[in-house]
Amino acid sequence: MNKKGFIFDLDGVIVDTAKYHFLAWQKLAKSIDVDFTEAENEQLKGVSRVKSLEKILEWGNKSISEDEFMKLMALKNNDYLSYINEMDENEILPDVSRVLNFLIDANQGISLGSASKNARTILKKVNLYNSFEAIVDGNDVIKGKPNPEVFLKAAKALNISPVDCIVFEDSVAGIQAANAANMISIGVGEKDVLNQADYVFKDFTELENSFLNKLIKNK
Ligand code: G6P
Ligand code: MG
Repeated sequence: MNKKGFIFDLDGVIVDTAKYHFLAWQKLAKSIDVDFTEAENEQLKGVSRVKSLEKILEWGNKSISEDEFMKLMALKNNDYLSYINEMDENEILPDVSRVLNFLIDANQGISLGSASKNARTILKKVNLYNSFEAIVDGNDVIKGKPNPEVFLKAAKALNISPVDCIVFEDSVAGIQAANAANMISIGVGEKDVLNQADYVFKDFTELENSFLNKLIKNK
């Protein structure tokens, strides 16, 4: 039997939470008199909460105390969670459930591999918590993407060798992490942005079951 490990990023792959991160970071940036654009938000995809705030402060030329830093992080997360609280399964991106169910029926290993410390909360809100055999998130890793730690831990949790794993990612840092982990990288988004990925699909509606079957049977 062919058993592969399918590892899914969360934000931007399973749900579109980038818009909520943007609103929360924008509000926070405004409160400290920093301009924060949607283009800058793009650069925060896949980047941890700490690193994201560091970047925003760097772009705004601000330096703050450690205490203030921790306070701002908590404020941002509370604001972000107020959006997450309103989420339900309608926010699952198109055809994600079809892909997950296909892989579950095919007895494949399925793990989450996310930088978010809110991943478990979000999966529960959209009712997908039980679709994952393993969950590795921002609470479980020391080094963020593009470091491969999160995906290597996911492979280990599935008990599947990294070369037999396939990663779905919407961020450049995530694709780099998957490549560094020696896994097949599948970009979900724009081809010219995710040009380091082994394959790129605009979204899951373009990814057919026959392609998943090929991934399962290959190697
Ligand atoms: C994902 C998102 C990032 C976010 C990070 C941490 O990778 O793409 O934009 O900063 O998770 O999320 P958290 O929920 O822990 O603040
Ligand atoms: Mg993402």
